[in-house]
Amino acid sequence: MKLWGGRFTKETNELVHHFNASISFDQKFYRQDIKGSIAHVTMLAKQGILTAKEQEDIVAGLEGILRDIENKTLTIDESQEDIHSFVEANLIARIGEAGKKLHTGRSRNDQVALDMKLFVRDEVVAINALLKTLLQELYQLMSEHTNTFMPGFTHLQKAQPITLSHHLGAYFEMFKRDRSRLCDLYARMNTCPLGSGALAGTTYPLDRNYTAALLDFDEPTLNSMDSVSDRDYLIELLSALSTIMMHLSRFCEEIILWNTNEYRFVEIDDAYSTGSSIMPQKKNPDIAELIRGKTGRVYGALISILTTMKGLPLAYNKDMQEDKELSFDAIDTVKGCISLFFGMLSTMKFNREVMEASAKNGFTNATDAADYLVGHGVAFRDAHGIIGRLVLLCIEKDCALDDLSLNEYKAICPVFEEDIYEAIRMNTCVEKRDTIGAPGTEAMRAVLKICKEYLDTDNLCDKIQKNS
Ligand code: ARG
Repeated sequence: MKLWGGRFTKETNELVHHFNASISFDQKFYRQDIKGSIAHVTMLAKQGILTAKEQEDIVAGLEGILRDIENKTLTIDESQEDIHSFVEANLIARIGEAGKKLHTGRSRNDQVALDMKLFVRDEVVAINALLKTLLQELYQLMSEHTNTFMPGFTHLQKAQPITLSHHLGAYFEMFKRDRSRLCDLYARMNTCPLGSGALAGTTYPLDRNYTAALLDFDEPTLNSMDSVSDRDYLIELLSALSTIMMHLSRFCEEIILWNTNEYRFVEIDDAYSTGSSIMPQKKNPDIAELIRGKTGRVYGALISILTTMKGLPLAYNKDMQEDKELSFDAIDTVKGCISLFFGMLSTMKFNREVMEASAKNGFTNATDAADYLVGHGVAFRDAHGIIGRLVLLCIEKDCALDDLSLNEYKAICPVFEEDIYEAIRMNTCVEKRDTIGAPGTEAMRAVLKICKEYLDTDNLCDKIQKNS
């Protein structure tokens, strides 16, 4: 059934129909479409625009459609233009005349704006929950590895010793911010466009506050033209999803490196690795690589919608139909990637000894050796030069700073005493970094407490939780 055949004298060209139709993808929000329609007719009846009997019949019909789609006795007819036409046609086929009144005081423009918002709201809640599960796993690992030493890197060169707990804590902060971005956009988008009509409201005495409340929105939108053409929230969503992917991708990049024979910091579980068809010895980190690779398609969705929106005059334009497929793809991609990343992380083995040996090998305690001299009255710049020369000596002798004799130390600078060895021990180097945010045990303990409180109370996301 076409919703708009009256003023046409010819059939739509077949190719035009397919080019124009959106049912192949907008059927994804059939649930939200039906939910929105039920709220709409409930409001129409309250306002006396429909009778109680008409409302009852329409709601029963819509619930029947929902039930039948869910239990697969009704398949969505893809020859329809969109999900809105499908539901309306099916309703009329089921209940007759009353069904023709469903669309009173509504346009597909405010209908689709509503459906997409309802859909995105549900997905934001789901992604937020997935991120929380990932954060819980990270918290667990962080708690277990406060004493697992490893090198911290800058420029991918060993820099200073840290702990695995501290390294993982960096990602904890990133994913925490990702959740707060989701919460922000949820709060900002939570206004109801229903009742905006095609662009200029309607002549019916709709109660928009009522429909907004029925659908758990904070309030109705305040400008009907903006309502039907606002896709800002999708841009914000895709930007937030792109950032999540960027974080996952960086983490994956590290895991791929750490899983190499050269690093051997971690071993990805067999269940999350794949083999080679030709090289029998291979165990490849394909999942991490794929997550890294899929980041591009989520960025693509963001750039796509930004480009689609940039030249559109007010109000609704069909270009906006392009907001759906890539958004759906980005949402599914992010959900899949977080779940798989969680599985990979929670089954991965961390090789403590290898990490610690690596931290000992790369002069990561050189700054601490310089700080030792500063503590004994040497100016930092001079101390820097002295330790540089000692490092050169170590490279020549193929040993660590810890392995030089006191005489060798003293030959370059007489200030050194026996306590230099204690000062540059891995434990000391980490322990001394005890300002908040640093890897020292006390500092980490304080941060872990904050992380735990965050996971337990989660105030940031109250709004989302209320609706989930
Ligand atoms: N499929 C359309 C979309 O996604 C629904 C709105 C159609 N509105 C219209 N005026 N043709 O945007």
